[in-house]
Amino acid sequence: MTAELIDGKAYAETVRARVRDRVAALHADTGLTPGLAVVLVGQDPASEVYVRSKGRQAVDAGMKSFEHRLPADTAEAELLDLIARLNDDPHVHGILVQLPLPPHLDARAVINAISPTKDVDGFHISNVGMVGTGQDAIVPCTPLGCMIMLRQYHDDFRGKTALVIGHSNIVGKPMARLLLNADCTVMIAHKSSTNIPELARLADIIVVAAGVPGLVRAEWIKPGATVIDVGINRIQRAGKPALVGDVDFDNVRKVAGAITPVPGGVGPMTIACLLVNTLSAFCHQHD
Ligand code: GUN
Repeated sequence: MTAELIDGKAYAETVRARVRDRVAALHADTGLTPGLAVVLVGQDPASEVYVRSKGRQAVDAGMKSFEHRLPADTAEAELLDLIARLNDDPHVHGILVQLPLPPHLDARAVINAISPTKDVDGFHISNVGMVGTGQDAIVPCTPLGCMIMLRQYHDDFRGKTALVIGHSNIVGKPMARLLLNADCTVMIAHKSSTNIPELARLADIIVVAAGVPGLVRAEWIKPGATVIDVGINRIQRAGKPALVGDVDFDNVRKVAGAITPVPGGVGPMTIACLLVNTLSAFCHQHD
């Protein structure tokens, strides 16, 4: 068996086109344009790339993009002040503070200062709690993108077993919650788990966000399972820089039923889902 490739780039293009059409229609009806504010503190090179891409894709979808770049030594009070202004700005419907923040800043306090209705990352404690209790809320972008792709292969999660590897607040925990909300049987493994191969062999669905290149091996995979690789690891291969996921892709694809590549799998869907969340936030604010 060779797994079907889950083309995240193509799904993302479809999602972006839908958002673009809806933004144009809303603008024609109301004269209003959704606005996304992205805040970057410091100059982390990977964050710079993500922030630029988020801004560019928002503009491509017909939205307004507001980029706020602050120096790495910005005081927390100054950042909180900016967030308060963005919360009050009627042109801004979504606010995203790129993580990680420099260590002197309390990321939890910063995220919880964002108005929950503008929290397009879905990281505010109120959105986390609502998703955790199965209520409608803004859902974090990466798990949302994974769910959209998984739904193409599983129209019903009841009776299915999923393993989520990684328990971060950004991916692992909300991913497990979404699968659980869909009545999937969910296992969560992480760096202290000692039996990941045995758990993986039970799983119809594996979502891995561990940050360990090649962690998931072919011997772990139940034949025909769907494998979603959230990992983005920059490594040297044959003396050259390469981008790889957390899955031993070349071998796992011989056993799995469907698999996301890295790059071109989950990554493009994450930003497409940020646009979805910004559009939803706009619609709620103008209800
Ligand atoms: N850093 C890595 N992933 C993310 C994300 O989804 N949102 C934000 N704000 N920062 C990140």
